[in-house]
Amino acid sequence: MAKFIDPSSIRASQPANFVHNDRSTLEHSGRAEENSSNFVYNPNNRLPIYAQRSKLPICASRDHLMFLLEKYQVVVVVGETGSGKSSQVPQYLVEVGWAHHGKQIAVTQPRRVAAVSLAARVAEERNCMLGDEVGYAIRFDDCTSPNTKIKFLTDGLLLREMMGDPLLEKFSVIMLDEAHERSINTDMLAGLLKKVLKKRSDLRVIVSSATIDAQKMKDFFNVKKRGDVSTDNAAILQIEGRCFPVEIMYSKHPVDDYVKATVDTVLIIHKSNAPGDVLAFLTGQDEVEECCRLLSEKLKNVANISKYKIQAIPMYSNLPAREQLKVFQRAPSGTRKVIFSTNIAETSITIDNIIHIIDCGFVKTTVYDADFNTETLTVLPVSQASANQRAGRAGRVTSGKCYRLYSEDEFEKLKPQSVPELQRSSMAFPILQLKALGVSNVAKFDFLSPPPSKNFARALELLFSLGAIDAKVELINPIGNQMAEMPLNPMFAKCLLTANEFDCSDEILTLCALMQIKNVFHVPSSGKEKMKAARVQREFYATEGDHMTKLNVFTSYVNNRRSKSWCDKYYASYASLNRAYHIKEQLLKYARRFGIELTSAKGFDDDKVLRCLCAGFFANVAIYTSRGCFRSIRDPVSSPDLFIHPDSVLYTVPFNSGTYVLFTETVHSTKIYLRECSIVKSDWLLQVAPHFYSVR
Ligand code: CDP
Ligand code: MG
Repeated sequence: MAKFIDPSSIRASQPANFVHNDRSTLEHSGRAEENSSNFVYNPNNRLPIYAQRSKLPICASRDHLMFLLEKYQVVVVVGETGSGKSSQVPQYLVEVGWAHHGKQIAVTQPRRVAAVSLAARVAEERNCMLGDEVGYAIRFDDCTSPNTKIKFLTDGLLLREMMGDPLLEKFSVIMLDEAHERSINTDMLAGLLKKVLKKRSDLRVIVSSATIDAQKMKDFFNVKKRGDVSTDNAAILQIEGRCFPVEIMYSKHPVDDYVKATVDTVLIIHKSNAPGDVLAFLTGQDEVEECCRLLSEKLKNVANISKYKIQAIPMYSNLPAREQLKVFQRAPSGTRKVIFSTNIAETSITIDNIIHIIDCGFVKTTVYDADFNTETLTVLPVSQASANQRAGRAGRVTSGKCYRLYSEDEFEKLKPQSVPELQRSSMAFPILQLKALGVSNVAKFDFLSPPPSKNFARALELLFSLGAIDAKVELINPIGNQMAEMPLNPMFAKCLLTANEFDCSDEILTLCALMQIKNVFHVPSSGKEKMKAARVQREFYATEGDHMTKLNVFTSYVNNRRSKSWCDKYYASYASLNRAYHIKEQLLKYARRFGIELTSAKGFDDDKVLRCLCAGFFANVAIYTSRGCFRSIRDPVSSPDLFIHPDSVLYTVPFNSGTYVLFTETVHSTKIYLRECSIVKSDWLLQVAPHFYSVR
């Protein structure tokens, strides 16, 4: 049972004035992106464009920014979401002549949808055709022309452009946008641009962000002589935003269920009749929905506890744009808006009139486990910087209050800053890319935040065993270069590059695409329907495991003309399968380029597909032990116990000791689970990876 937080147990600390100095992790991973809408709220959309532009906070800083760019090579621009950084700065640059002589201005985005929608918006503001003066480029889609002056592109694509144009000679200014997200690609670009700036004194870099640790960025780029400020080549520009004090309240005791505690805290605020809307931070869509449900349930039992009415609104990135709009609409007078949101409201969107913040103290983020070589979404405590950023969302219109569902002691124990993606991801692909970009000593590369040495060592070991690099850490041609170019994790890339040997490139392409989506099946919430879904879905289950099962679903989906009614009948996710279908088409283009022919084992020889998977994933294998669980074969003695995940089709299968399973996805909660797994034979492993297994 959750403890109801009694108002007296919430203690006020010194009111704090918040400055935006945090870098935080968003809930979107590359995966979530494609399902999420890219919704931008424009409070002034009834005004003419020029009036909308002049109302943006950045407008007052225009001349100052242009001055700083004359004087400094790098300018860090800090201003909250919606202040006009992404859409206005590139236009100012064009207006003052940075795009003369055929030079372009590049603006990088961590997300593809953002690159496209920003380009569309700026083209509209400049009254030109998209792709003419203003264009975008994302993988597989280049919408630019020789006239293009402002080019929005993903950070990944700019990295790729550097392979052909190492000094980025086409560009006069590079804007690293949304730098607070600290995506792997943005971090890598920062390191690479620092080198380019030394060779190109005419190049300018703008680092822009909603909450960045600006000083760290500035110090990273600044190469001044010690103590001599006059030689600074980097500066910070803070865009004016309103910032009122926010009073912080801590929970006296740790709460054991922050979902319930969130709802209870809403009721305390509501009962107190204090005016103002509430924004509560949770970690995922399920918790957001649970809070909405719980609140309406509790309100049924209490009549007239407040002079206000309550309107509960969910917010998460997968919510349709129409629903997201509700978050921004003003509540009718006498009604209090209560927004339950994921981390998306921390920096990605800005909601007006929030007075009360409830912070559960956690965030969902991907973490890399070097021992299992897997990345998993995990709920972790937030950093102090994130907690302060969340609290600061209340101080925009007047002074606000932030209720932290943890004690002050717990706050003191939190990490000061969030961990950037590069430090919690596999380094295998970034290392391949750096090598392909001609970085000779990757270990000495100037990272904004260097990755842990263990992750580095694991990546080198993996790339070596996959045959991508040699003992001197040089790329092995052609396979190493091809793996650097393919938009896949190197283990899947290896499977694909070997698929022709097993006559199954078609199946491997499908699996590579399916791994980019979360679930092929829907799981209904009602018990009765759940059973029905399980019954019809069982038709696709393969005794070998999840990979062949997913292949069966995808094949049936295609054979049934990719129809929605077929998906509905089998509780298969139409959106996910459709997306996988398109990813497969794109991957096919790469495969063709690398001379991979489309071959299929056509369901006659499933072994071939699994053997091919072994060729890439030989390092991700576990063995069933007499203790009734699995152990990693890397080191069965010190390996923790591993269990089959309830979502896997192998969950209910009785295993014999010595059975091997290969896994491509794990989930870490109270135990470590193998979520996507298939049964494989030891002979196959010895055949495809004798170097790996003989070494051990
Ligand atoms: O980058 P930053 O968050 O500072 O702001 P922005 O993306 O340049 O957006 C500034 C304003 O432009 C927004 O508040 C919207 O009013 C408008 N905008 C829009 O209507 N549609 C877009 N795709 C982007 C911006
Ligand atoms: Mg922006």
